[in-house]
Amino acid sequence: MTKGIAVYPGSFDPPTNGHLDLIERGSKIFEELVVAILRNSEKSPMFSVAERLEMLRELTAGLKNVRLDTFDGLMVQFAKSIHAKCVLRGIRAISDYEYELQMALMNRRLEPTLETVFMMPADKYSYVSSRLVREVAQTGGPVKGLVPELVEQKLREKLDPAYKLQKEPLIDSPRRRKKKA
Ligand code: PNS
Repeated sequence: MTKGIAVYPGSFDPPTNGHLDLIERGSKIFEELVVAILRNSEKSPMFSVAERLEMLRELTAGLKNVRLDTFDGLMVQFAKSIHAKCVLRGIRAISDYEYELQMALMNRRLEPTLETVFMMPADKYSYVSSRLVREVAQTGGPVKGLVPELVEQKLREKLDPAYKLQKEPLIDSPRRRKKKA
């Protein structure tokens, strides 16, 4: 186990099984892993930062050395503020490499003492990304197996608000009142 804090920054919109796989792997090699959600993402997110935090909180509840946080601005500044020694990032395929290498080298230029560590998620998640999950879910496709069940449910609620109403009726129906009595 590597002593010290590592930060795993990202958008997590939404968290996928690939993210979870990496968090689990990271938690095994770092003393403490801080999963940090970028707050000021320019993209219009599907889930608010609060919603992403809530999902990640439930999903990582069993991992005692995993902490959650959010950050704004430069990631290296956030990493410094929490005394992180390493940045954890996932590489799924060669296509990720160029962007990740650029980011790691830019971060190194900004903060030479911060090391980036790359880990590979399980190969079954090598094609899973939040963007594709959102796209599949938005067009009505199945995302089972790509995201945790909790996220699957949140996607369903987000894309079909009627689904939430079916589960939690806002108004007590006569049938429900009778059932409760
Ligand atoms: O999950 P993502 O969207 O691939 O995560 C990208 C993220 C949040 C790690 C990256 O965009 C980031 O660190 N943004 C913060 C701003 C910053 O530090 N930019 C310079 C990095 S080269």
